[in-house]
Amino acid sequence: MNFELTISPMNEIDADVELILVVNKDFKHDFVKNRKLLKKASFKAEQDETYLLINKDRLFVGVEKINDTNLRVAMAKAIQRLKSTKYKSIKVACYFEDKNSTHNLRAMVEGVLLGAYSFDKYKTKKSKRKLKDVIISLEEYNAFNLDMEECANAIELAQITADATNFTRDIVNTTPDDCFPDTLAQIASGLADELGLECNILKPKELKKEKMEALLAVARASRHKPRVIHLTHKPKNPKAVISLIGKGLTYDSGGLSLKPSTSMVSMKLDKSGGSAVLGIMKAVSEMNLPVEVHGFVGAVENMIGGDAYKPDDVLTSKSGKTIEVRNTDAEGRLVLADVLAYAQQEVEADYMFDLATLTGASVVALGQYTSAVMGNCNTPKDMVIEASKNAGELATKLDFNKLLRKCLKSNIADISNISNTPYGGAITAGIFLDNFIEKENKDKWAHIDIAGPSYVEHAWGENPVGGSGYGVRTMTRLLEKLAK
Ligand code: BES
Ligand code: ZN
Ligand code: ZN
Repeated sequence: MNFELTISPMNEIDADVELILVVNKDFKHDFVKNRKLLKKASFKAEQDETYLLINKDRLFVGVEKINDTNLRVAMAKAIQRLKSTKYKSIKVACYFEDKNSTHNLRAMVEGVLLGAYSFDKYKTKKSKRKLKDVIISLEEYNAFNLDMEECANAIELAQITADATNFTRDIVNTTPDDCFPDTLAQIASGLADELGLECNILKPKELKKEKMEALLAVARASRHKPRVIHLTHKPKNPKAVISLIGKGLTYDSGGLSLKPSTSMVSMKLDKSGGSAVLGIMKAVSEMNLPVEVHGFVGAVENMIGGDAYKPDDVLTSKSGKTIEVRNTDAEGRLVLADVLAYAQQEVEADYMFDLATLTGASVVALGQYTSAVMGNCNTPKDMVIEASKNAGELATKLDFNKLLRKCLKSNIADISNISNTPYGGAITAGIFLDNFIEKENKDKWAHIDIAGPSYVEHAWGENPVGGSGYGVRTMTRLLEKLAK
C-alpha cells in the first residue's frame, strides 16, 4: 500500500473513493454531504459504523471522538468495508486532536494496514486486494504549519509497526506442522540476514551444554527438536540495553496432562510471545532505534509419546533450582525458566520483558482482549502500561502477593510447576517465573501474559480472526520511548 500526504484540499484530489469520517455525529460538518441519503439509510455515525454510498463513491465511517484508538479502528473498518470492491485509490482528510503532534496520523495509517490484513495461506483462492493508494489530505490543518517531515516520519513509523505486527500474525496463524521450532529459527536467521541483526541459534547439543534441562524435558516427546533463538540489534552508543524473552511453543498439546479436545484447538497460538519478539526485532531494526535489543525465543513443541516428560518428574533447571512437575501442561513456565536464566547469563540488561501465552487463568481474569502485566517493581510494569495505551493495546497490572507465593511449594523439589490452589493462576505462574529472576534483576523485569489478546477466534477492533500480533505495537512504542 502506498501512502501519499498532501496539503491539497480534498476536492482537488483525484481518487476512486472518498472516505469521510463523521466525528461526534456531526452531520453538519462541511465534509459530510449527502445528508438526506445518510438519513434514509439510517446511518447514525456510531463508532466503527460504515456506510458505502456506492454511486457517489463515498464511504462514511463513524468516529465517536477523535483519539488514536478510535481513528485506528475506524480506518481498519473502512478498509475492511472496501475489501471486495474494485477501488484502487482512496482519499481521506487527516484529523488531529493536538495540532502539534502527528500521533493521530500514525494511528490512521496503522489502522489502514492492520485492517487490510488477511491470512489466506491455506485458501486455494487467494483474496486480491485492489486498493493500492491512500491519499491523506492535511487540508483542514494547512494553516497550522504542520511539519511535513514529521508527518512523513509518522507514516513511516506506522508502516514499520503495522508490517511487523502483520509479520507476527502470519507466523502465529501458520499451522504447527508448517511452523515448528526450526521454522522459527529459520525465520529469525532470515531476519538477521535481511536486516543485519546478530543471530545465534542453540540446537539440542548446545542446549544440553547450557544445562537447559527443563526446556529439553518439555521438548523431548516431539519429533521437532527445540531451538533457542538469540537475535541482537546492536547500535553504536545505545541509550539502553533491553532483553525480550518470548514463549515459542509451536504447539501445546498439554503433554501427558493432555488438554481436552476443545482446548487443544488453536494451541498453535502458543508461539505468540516468541513470534511477537521476532516482530519487535524486525521493527526496532527497521526503525534503527538507538537501543540495544536482545530477543530470545524458547522454541519448543509440547507433545505426548513414550519419551514424554511426566507428572512426578523432577527437573533440574539451568539456574540449578529443581522443579517438581505436577502438570505437563504448565510447560511454558518450564521453558521460560531456562530461557530467562540464559538471557540473564548472556546479557546485563537495563530491563527485561517476557511475553508469553502462559495461562488460561489470565483470560478468565481479564477477558480476551487484555494482557496481564506482572513483576516486582512498578517501573518496568508502568513502562508497559503506558506504551500499551499509546499503541492502542489493552494491558493491566496483576499484583504478586506473599500468600500466593507459598502456593508453589513442593515437598520433594525446590518448587512445584503448578500452584496448590485453583485460584489466581495467572499470578502464581508469574510468581513461578520470578523464582528464576536473579536478585539483581528483580526490579528490572516485567512479565506480560498475552494468552487472551494474542489470538481470538473472531475479529475485534482493528484485529482479524486468529493471531493479532499483540505485543509488537506496545513493545515497539516502549523501545521508541527509550530511544528518545
Ligand atoms: N498455553 C497454555 C495457556 C493458554 C490457555 C494460552 C488458553 C492461551 C489460551 C499454557 O501452557 C497452559 O496450558 N496453562 C495451563 C496451566 C495450568 C496447567 C496450571 C492453563 O492455563 O490451564
Ligand atoms: Zn500448556
Ligand atoms: Zn502453553
